[in-house]
Amino acid sequence: MLAKYAVFTVITSVISFWCMQQVQEPYYKHINDFYNTFCIYLSKKVNDFLSSRNILTCVAAAENEELFQEEESDILFTADMLNKYSENSEKLYLSILGEVFDVTKGKKFYGPGEGYHGFTGKDGSRAFVTGDFTEKGLIDDVLDLSLQDIKSLSDWSKFYHKEYEYKGKLIGRYYNSDGRPTGYYYKLQKKLVEAAKAQTVSDEFKLNYPPCNVEFDINTGSRVWCSTRSGGIERDWVGVPRKIYEPGSKTHRCACLNIMGQSTEADRNTRIKNIEEYEDCHPEATSCHVHM
Ligand code: HEM
Repeated sequence: MLAKYAVFTVITSVISFWCMQQVQEPYYKHINDFYNTFCIYLSKKVNDFLSSRNILTCVAAAENEELFQEEESDILFTADMLNKYSENSEKLYLSILGEVFDVTKGKKFYGPGEGYHGFTGKDGSRAFVTGDFTEKGLIDDVLDLSLQDIKSLSDWSKFYHKEYEYKGKLIGRYYNSDGRPTGYYYKLQKKLVEAAKAQTVSDEFKLNYPPCNVEFDINTGSRVWCSTRSGGIERDWVGVPRKIYEPGSKTHRCACLNIMGQSTEADRNTRIKNIEEYEDCHPEATSCHVHM
Protein backbone atom coordinates (compact mmCIF):
# COMPACT_ATOMS: atom_id res chain seq x y z
CA MET A 1 0.00 0.00 0.00
CA LEU A 2 2.73 2.36 1.07
CA ALA A 3 4.78 1.56 -2.01
CA LYS A 4 1.73 2.13 -4.20
CA TYR A 5 1.18 5.63 -2.74
CA ALA A 6 4.85 6.42 -2.94
CA VAL A 7 5.00 5.49 -6.64
CA PHE A 8 1.78 7.44 -7.29
CA THR A 9 3.17 10.51 -5.50
CA VAL A 10 6.42 10.39 -7.46
CA ILE A 11 4.63 10.04 -10.80
CA THR A 12 2.16 12.87 -10.10
CA SER A 13 4.97 15.09 -8.82
CA VAL A 14 7.02 14.52 -11.97
CA ILE A 15 4.01 15.23 -14.18
CA SER A 16 3.12 18.41 -12.23
CA PHE A 17 6.71 19.63 -12.37
CA TRP A 18 6.89 18.89 -16.10
CA CYS A 19 3.65 20.84 -16.62
CA MET A 20 5.08 23.78 -14.73
CA GLN A 21 8.08 23.79 -17.05
CA GLN A 22 5.86 23.80 -20.14
CA VAL A 23 3.25 26.40 -19.40
CA GLN A 24 3.72 30.13 -19.49
CA GLU A 25 4.28 32.15 -16.37
CA PRO A 26 0.75 33.48 -15.70
CA TYR A 27 -0.43 29.88 -15.26
CA TYR A 28 2.35 28.79 -12.92
CA LYS A 29 0.45 29.88 -9.87
CA HIS A 30 -2.74 27.99 -10.71
CA ILE A 31 -0.90 24.76 -11.47
CA ASN A 32 1.16 25.21 -8.36
CA ASP A 33 -1.95 25.81 -6.25
CA PHE A 34 -3.45 22.65 -7.70
CA TYR A 35 -0.23 20.77 -7.00
CA ASN A 36 -0.22 22.03 -3.41
CA THR A 37 -3.79 20.95 -2.78
CA PHE A 38 -3.30 17.61 -4.44
CA CYS A 39 -0.06 17.00 -2.62
CA ILE A 40 -1.55 17.79 0.77
CA TYR A 41 -4.58 15.61 0.03
CA LEU A 42 -2.35 12.72 -0.98
CA SER A 43 -0.16 13.14 2.06
CA LYS A 44 -3.18 13.20 4.35
CA LYS A 45 -4.37 9.94 2.84
CA VAL A 46 -1.10 8.20 3.58
CA ASN A 47 -0.77 9.93 6.91
CA ASP A 48 -1.34 6.64 8.72
CA PHE A 49 1.68 5.21 7.04
CA LEU A 50 4.00 8.12 6.74
CA SER A 51 5.21 10.61 9.29
CA SER A 52 3.65 14.10 9.32
CA ARG A 53 7.03 15.37 8.05
CA ASN A 54 6.03 14.18 4.63
CA ILE A 55 3.23 16.75 4.45
CA LEU A 56 5.68 19.49 5.37
CA THR A 57 8.23 18.27 2.83
CA CYS A 58 5.53 18.18 0.20
CA VAL A 59 4.36 21.76 0.90
CA ALA A 60 7.91 23.03 1.21
CA ALA A 61 8.80 21.51 -2.17
CA ALA A 62 5.76 23.12 -3.75
CA GLU A 63 6.67 26.47 -2.23
CA ASN A 64 10.29 26.20 -3.26
CA GLU A 65 11.09 29.66 -4.66
CA GLU A 66 13.51 28.33 -7.22
CA LEU A 67 10.55 26.95 -9.14
CA PHE A 68 9.22 30.47 -9.69
CA GLN A 69 12.21 32.73 -9.94
CA GLU A 70 13.80 33.33 -13.28
CA GLU A 71 17.31 33.41 -11.88
CA GLU A 72 18.54 31.61 -8.80
CA SER A 73 20.80 34.51 -7.84
CA ASP A 74 17.86 36.96 -7.64
CA ILE A 75 17.78 39.02 -4.46
CA LEU A 76 14.34 40.11 -3.36
CA PHE A 77 14.54 43.72 -2.19
CA THR A 78 12.03 45.49 -0.01
CA ALA A 79 11.71 49.25 -0.60
CA ASP A 80 13.64 49.87 2.64
CA MET A 81 16.46 47.54 1.63
CA LEU A 82 16.82 49.24 -1.74
CA ASN A 83 16.67 52.68 -0.20
CA LYS A 84 19.93 51.94 1.65
CA TYR A 85 21.85 51.83 -1.65
CA SER A 86 21.69 55.57 -2.23
CA GLU A 87 22.82 58.27 0.22
CA ASN A 88 25.94 57.42 2.27
CA SER A 89 26.37 54.09 0.57
CA GLU A 90 29.41 52.77 -1.24
CA LYS A 91 27.14 50.80 -3.53
CA LEU A 92 24.51 52.51 -5.66
CA TYR A 93 21.47 50.55 -6.80
CA LEU A 94 18.44 51.61 -8.78
CA SER A 95 15.30 49.86 -9.92
CA ILE A 96 13.53 50.12 -13.23
CA LEU A 97 10.22 48.32 -13.88
CA GLY A 98 10.81 46.40 -10.65
CA GLU A 99 14.27 45.09 -11.56
CA VAL A 100 17.25 46.17 -9.47
CA PHE A 101 20.68 47.04 -10.91
CA ASP A 102 24.02 47.88 -9.38
CA VAL A 103 24.96 51.23 -10.97
CA THR A 104 28.00 51.88 -8.77
CA LYS A 105 30.30 51.98 -11.81
CA GLY A 106 28.23 54.91 -13.13
CA LYS A 107 29.02 56.99 -10.04
CA LYS A 108 29.62 60.09 -12.17
CA PHE A 109 25.92 59.99 -13.12
CA TYR A 110 24.33 58.44 -10.05
CA GLY A 111 26.57 59.55 -7.17
CA PRO A 112 25.34 62.09 -4.55
CA GLY A 113 25.02 65.54 -6.14
CA GLU A 114 25.11 64.18 -9.70
CA GLY A 115 22.31 64.70 -12.23
CA TYR A 116 20.79 61.24 -12.03
CA HIS A 117 21.28 60.55 -8.31
CA GLY A 118 17.50 60.73 -7.82
CA PHE A 119 17.11 57.35 -9.51
CA THR A 120 19.13 55.52 -6.86
CA GLY A 121 17.62 53.65 -3.93
CA LYS A 122 14.17 53.45 -5.51
CA ASP A 123 12.11 52.63 -8.56
CA GLY A 124 11.67 55.91 -10.43
CA SER A 125 10.71 54.29 -13.76
CA ARG A 126 8.29 57.03 -14.75
CA ALA A 127 10.97 59.73 -14.70
CA PHE A 128 12.95 57.87 -17.36
CA VAL A 129 10.43 59.12 -19.90
CA THR A 130 8.93 62.20 -18.30
CA GLY A 131 12.28 63.72 -17.24
CA ASP A 132 10.58 64.82 -14.00
CA PHE A 133 13.28 64.11 -11.44
CA THR A 134 11.35 65.54 -8.49
CA GLU A 135 10.06 63.33 -5.68
CA LYS A 136 6.62 63.43 -7.32
CA GLY A 137 8.05 62.40 -10.65
CA LEU A 138 10.36 59.62 -9.47
CA ILE A 139 7.65 56.99 -9.13
CA ASP A 140 7.08 53.49 -10.48
CA ASP A 141 3.54 53.91 -11.85
CA VAL A 142 3.74 53.90 -15.65
CA LEU A 143 0.68 52.18 -17.11
CA ASP A 144 -1.03 55.42 -18.15
CA LEU A 145 1.92 56.48 -20.29
CA SER A 146 1.72 56.38 -24.09
CA LEU A 147 2.76 53.26 -26.00
CA GLN A 148 5.78 55.16 -27.29
CA ASP A 149 6.83 56.03 -23.72
CA ILE A 150 6.33 52.43 -22.61
CA LYS A 151 8.53 51.28 -25.48
CA SER A 152 11.14 53.84 -24.46
CA LEU A 153 11.02 52.53 -20.87
CA SER A 154 11.61 49.03 -22.12
CA ASP A 155 14.65 50.32 -24.06
CA TRP A 156 15.99 51.86 -20.83
CA SER A 157 15.49 48.51 -19.10
CA LYS A 158 17.46 46.78 -21.88
CA PHE A 159 20.16 49.40 -21.46
CA TYR A 160 20.55 48.58 -17.74
CA HIS A 161 20.61 44.83 -18.43
CA LYS A 162 23.42 45.44 -20.93
CA GLU A 163 25.49 48.02 -19.08
CA TYR A 164 25.05 47.19 -15.40
CA GLU A 165 24.87 44.20 -13.09
CA TYR A 166 21.38 42.84 -12.50
CA LYS A 167 20.84 42.17 -8.78
CA GLY A 168 17.23 41.07 -8.34
CA LYS A 169 13.68 42.22 -7.94
CA LEU A 170 11.94 44.88 -5.93
CA ILE A 171 8.92 43.72 -3.96
CA GLY A 172 6.04 46.06 -4.72
CA ARG A 173 4.26 47.12 -7.86
CA TYR A 174 5.89 44.64 -10.26
CA TYR A 175 6.79 41.66 -8.08
CA ASN A 176 5.14 40.21 -5.00
CA SER A 177 6.91 39.02 -1.87
CA ASP A 178 7.60 35.63 -3.52
CA GLY A 179 9.30 37.36 -6.42
CA ARG A 180 6.43 36.41 -8.69
CA PRO A 181 5.15 38.93 -11.27
CA THR A 182 2.06 40.85 -10.21
CA GLY A 183 -1.07 41.63 -12.22
CA TYR A 184 0.41 45.08 -12.87
CA TYR A 185 3.50 43.44 -14.40
CA TYR A 186 1.35 41.43 -16.82
CA LYS A 187 -0.66 44.52 -17.77
CA LEU A 188 2.62 46.22 -18.62
CA GLN A 189 3.74 43.23 -20.72
CA LYS A 190 0.50 43.48 -22.66
CA LYS A 191 1.16 47.17 -23.33
CA LEU A 192 4.69 46.36 -24.44
CA VAL A 193 3.37 43.92 -27.03
CA GLU A 194 0.96 46.64 -28.25
CA ALA A 195 3.84 49.14 -28.33
CA ALA A 196 5.99 46.77 -30.41
CA LYS A 197 3.13 46.30 -32.89
CA ALA A 198 2.56 50.06 -33.13
CA GLN A 199 6.28 50.54 -33.75
CA THR A 200 6.21 48.02 -36.62
CA VAL A 201 3.26 49.83 -38.22
CA SER A 202 4.99 53.17 -37.79
CA ASP A 203 8.29 51.80 -39.23
CA GLU A 204 6.44 50.39 -42.23
CA PHE A 205 4.66 53.71 -42.71
CA LYS A 206 7.99 55.54 -42.66
CA LEU A 207 9.43 53.18 -45.27
CA ASN A 208 6.49 53.82 -47.60
CA TYR A 209 6.39 57.56 -46.86
CA PRO A 210 9.94 58.66 -45.96
CA PRO A 211 10.35 62.10 -44.34
CA CYS A 212 11.41 65.04 -46.58
CA ASN A 213 14.55 67.15 -46.22
CA VAL A 214 13.75 70.55 -44.68
CA GLU A 215 15.66 73.83 -44.67
CA PHE A 216 14.91 77.34 -43.59
CA ASP A 217 16.26 80.48 -45.21
CA ILE A 218 15.60 83.90 -43.69
CA ASN A 219 14.93 85.40 -47.15
CA THR A 220 13.07 82.64 -48.93
CA GLY A 221 11.42 80.85 -45.98
CA SER A 222 11.08 77.10 -45.57
CA ARG A 223 11.68 74.54 -48.28
CA VAL A 224 10.91 70.83 -48.25
CA TRP A 225 12.34 68.47 -50.84
CA CYS A 226 12.84 64.81 -51.55
CA SER A 227 15.94 62.86 -52.47
CA THR A 228 16.85 59.17 -52.64
CA ARG A 229 18.15 59.41 -49.06
CA SER A 230 15.75 61.84 -47.39
CA GLY A 231 14.58 60.83 -43.93
CA GLY A 232 17.60 58.52 -43.72
CA ILE A 233 15.73 55.98 -45.86
CA GLU A 234 17.78 54.88 -48.85
CA ARG A 235 15.67 53.99 -51.88
CA ASP A 236 15.69 53.93 -55.67
CA TRP A 237 13.01 56.61 -56.08
CA VAL A 238 12.89 60.30 -55.12
CA GLY A 239 9.20 61.06 -54.63
CA VAL A 240 7.32 64.33 -54.25
CA PRO A 241 6.70 66.27 -50.99
CA ARG A 242 3.26 65.93 -49.48
CA LYS A 243 1.64 66.83 -46.17
CA ILE A 244 0.91 63.56 -44.46
CA TYR A 245 -1.25 62.89 -41.41
CA GLU A 246 -0.08 59.71 -39.67
CA PRO A 247 -2.81 57.48 -38.21
CA GLY A 248 -4.00 58.95 -34.93
CA SER A 249 -2.15 62.24 -35.40
CA LYS A 250 -3.80 65.65 -35.91
CA THR A 251 -0.64 67.37 -37.09
CA HIS A 252 1.07 66.69 -40.37
CA ARG A 253 4.65 66.03 -41.39
CA CYS A 254 6.29 66.26 -44.78
CA ALA A 255 6.61 62.87 -46.48
CA CYS A 256 7.93 61.86 -49.88
CA LEU A 257 5.30 60.17 -51.97
CA ASN A 258 6.26 57.74 -54.71
CA ILE A 259 3.83 58.87 -57.41
CA MET A 260 5.37 56.49 -59.97
CA GLY A 261 5.13 53.48 -57.66
CA GLN A 262 2.46 50.80 -57.93
CA SER A 263 -0.24 51.22 -55.34
CA THR A 264 -2.99 48.96 -54.04
CA GLU A 265 -6.62 49.98 -53.62
CA ALA A 266 -6.10 50.25 -49.83
CA ASP A 267 -3.01 52.39 -50.37
CA ARG A 268 -4.90 54.73 -52.72
CA ASN A 269 -7.70 55.12 -50.15
CA THR A 270 -5.16 55.92 -47.41
CA ARG A 271 -3.58 58.50 -49.66
CA ILE A 272 -6.87 60.26 -50.33
CA LYS A 273 -7.69 60.48 -46.62
CA ASN A 274 -4.29 61.25 -45.15
CA ILE A 275 -2.29 63.07 -47.79
CA GLU A 276 -2.50 66.64 -49.03
CA GLU A 277 -0.54 68.54 -51.66
CA TYR A 278 1.36 71.68 -50.67
CA GLU A 279 -0.31 74.90 -51.81
CA ASP A 280 1.40 76.73 -54.66
CA CYS A 281 3.57 73.74 -55.52
CA HIS A 282 3.32 71.70 -58.72
CA PRO A 283 2.03 68.17 -57.88
CA GLU A 284 5.07 66.62 -59.59
CA ALA A 285 7.73 68.98 -58.20
CA THR A 286 10.35 67.31 -55.98
CA SER A 287 10.88 70.54 -54.02
CA CYS A 288 8.33 72.99 -52.58
CA HIS A 289 8.53 76.30 -50.75
CA VAL A 290 6.10 76.08 -47.85
CA HIS A 291 4.31 78.42 -45.50
CA MET A 292 4.83 76.92 -42.02
C1 HEM B 1 13.91 62.35 -19.96
C2 HEM B 1 15.05 63.01 -19.79
C3 HEM B 1 16.36 62.33 -19.50
C4 HEM B 1 16.61 61.18 -18.83
C5 HEM B 1 15.62 60.25 -18.14
C6 HEM B 1 18.05 60.99 -18.85
C7 HEM B 1 18.68 59.93 -18.24
C8 HEM B 1 20.04 59.70 -18.29
C9 HEM B 1 20.72 58.65 -17.60
C10 HEM B 1 20.03 57.61 -16.72
C11 HEM B 1 22.02 58.73 -17.89
C12 HEM B 1 23.11 57.83 -17.36
C13 HEM B 1 23.36 56.72 -18.37
C14 HEM B 1 24.36 55.72 -17.86
O1 HEM B 1 24.14 55.10 -16.82
O2 HEM B 1 25.36 55.51 -18.57
C15 HEM B 1 22.20 59.86 -18.75
C16 HEM B 1 23.39 60.29 -19.26
C17 HEM B 1 23.56 61.45 -19.98
N1 HEM B 1 22.58 62.36 -20.32
FE1 HEM B 1 20.62 62.19 -19.88
N2 HEM B 1 18.63 62.01 -19.53
C18 HEM B 1 17.65 62.87 -19.94
C19 HEM B 1 17.80 64.02 -20.66
C20 HEM B 1 19.01 64.51 -21.07
C21 HEM B 1 19.19 65.75 -21.79
C22 HEM B 1 18.06 66.70 -22.18
C23 HEM B 1 20.51 65.86 -22.04
C24 HEM B 1 21.26 66.93 -22.73
C25 HEM B 1 20.87 68.15 -22.91
C26 HEM B 1 21.18 64.72 -21.47
C27 HEM B 1 22.51 64.47 -21.54
C28 HEM B 1 23.13 63.36 -21.02
C29 HEM B 1 24.58 63.11 -21.16
C30 HEM B 1 25.57 63.99 -21.88
C31 HEM B 1 24.83 61.91 -20.52
C32 HEM B 1 26.15 61.23 -20.36
C33 HEM B 1 26.37 60.29 -21.50
C34 HEM B 1 27.70 59.63 -21.40
O3 HEM B 1 28.67 60.27 -21.00
O4 HEM B 1 27.77 58.44 -21.75
N3 HEM B 1 20.23 63.93 -20.88
N4 HEM B 1 20.97 60.43 -19.00
